[in-house]
Amino acid sequence: MSSFPNDFLWGAATSSHQVEGNNSNNDWWVWEKTAGVADLSGQACKHYELYAQDFDLAKSLNHNAHRFSLEWSRIEPSPGEFNEKELIHYRDVLQALRERGLEPVVTLHHFTNPIWFSRMGGWHSSRAVRHFLDFTAKAVNFLGEQVKYWVTINEPMVYVYNGYLVGVWPPQRKSLWLSRTATSIFAETHSRSYWLIHSIYEKNGWAAPMVSIAHNMRAFQPLTRSLRNRLSIYLRNKFFNLDFLDRIAKGNALDYIGVNYYTRDLVDACSWAPGELLQGLCRNDPAPLEKNYMGWDIAPEGFYDILLLLKKYHLPIIITENGTCVGDDKSRWLYIYNHLKNLLRAKEAGLDIRGYLYWSLLDNFEWDKGFAPRFGLIDVDFKTYKRTVRQSAVKYAQICRTGQLGNP
Ligand code: FCB
Repeated sequence: MSSFPNDFLWGAATSSHQVEGNNSNNDWWVWEKTAGVADLSGQACKHYELYAQDFDLAKSLNHNAHRFSLEWSRIEPSPGEFNEKELIHYRDVLQALRERGLEPVVTLHHFTNPIWFSRMGGWHSSRAVRHFLDFTAKAVNFLGEQVKYWVTINEPMVYVYNGYLVGVWPPQRKSLWLSRTATSIFAETHSRSYWLIHSIYEKNGWAAPMVSIAHNMRAFQPLTRSLRNRLSIYLRNKFFNLDFLDRIAKGNALDYIGVNYYTRDLVDACSWAPGELLQGLCRNDPAPLEKNYMGWDIAPEGFYDILLLLKKYHLPIIITENGTCVGDDKSRWLYIYNHLKNLLRAKEAGLDIRGYLYWSLLDNFEWDKGFAPRFGLIDVDFKTYKRTVRQSAVKYAQICRTGQLGNP
């Protein structure tokens, strides 16, 4: 199989804090100033002002879909107080997408929280669910008429891992206990938002929406097939790749699965210690793979492997993120090509994959790593904010137009 169906969703993704600029009312903005990270997000890509021009570029690259996130801290600057001007801004953003024939995929939460929410206890506080539901109700009532695809929460397990287990992102906690609490709160929040969104659509007489999370999955590959490595892979798949989905799928709170895939971990557990089984990485890789700028292995076959893990859910799949940051744009093109090849293999194996959204449309603010990692289909000059379309984007545009993979 080398072609994609006509109604396949093709496009790219962004998130508010990484591209908009001036998100001074969220916890990342505060954290950046004290954490000694590479860069401050500052104006980011100025996408808040330049979104229409950016969508013109997406359209010129034959995209027919686009994923972006609402910035909660703009919409609800203090608890229960909603800023109508910001809601209108996002309505304009949706309108701009629709006018260009781009199907919106809208994320409600992509890592950032209003300052008041994190001060109140953030994602390990039992009040989190209620506050998030208030925001969801407001945003969905206001914007839902123009939206079919929702992502409630981006990568809850990555948030928990970085924010609560290893403590390298806000709220910088290192606690197994809080990690478990936050995971449960995220699962409850997703499920209740799911039902809330459906009920709002029903009440308004709008066609039923498609609601999911964007779930980060890593391919875990063993160096050798020793018993210890096999156990380690089983545990990692269970805890990182599947548990959260199992939980929300059990309550039928998924209309599709949003998948974010970037890389693999090569596993060679050198002891039976739980930390080693769950987190240890192979120390002596005899055949190292090419890596991206951030040191992540480029592993397109792993994409196929993780997609096959999803077969048991019998749900449609949309790739909500997949991408690479590299100095050499040729390597970005090969990354896209080889991942799409594996996506087609997974489709052939029976998975119902309905879209692919490259991360990211623009070079942007890569969290604690700042502006150096360049993930964009479009290069951004962070001094002048000038956009330049990369060759990889032009080649990807050809696939978007023809639905044919062709040759690399
Ligand atoms: C994902 C995030 C996204 C971006 C990419 C590189 O984990 O969802 O915001 O940072 O990684």
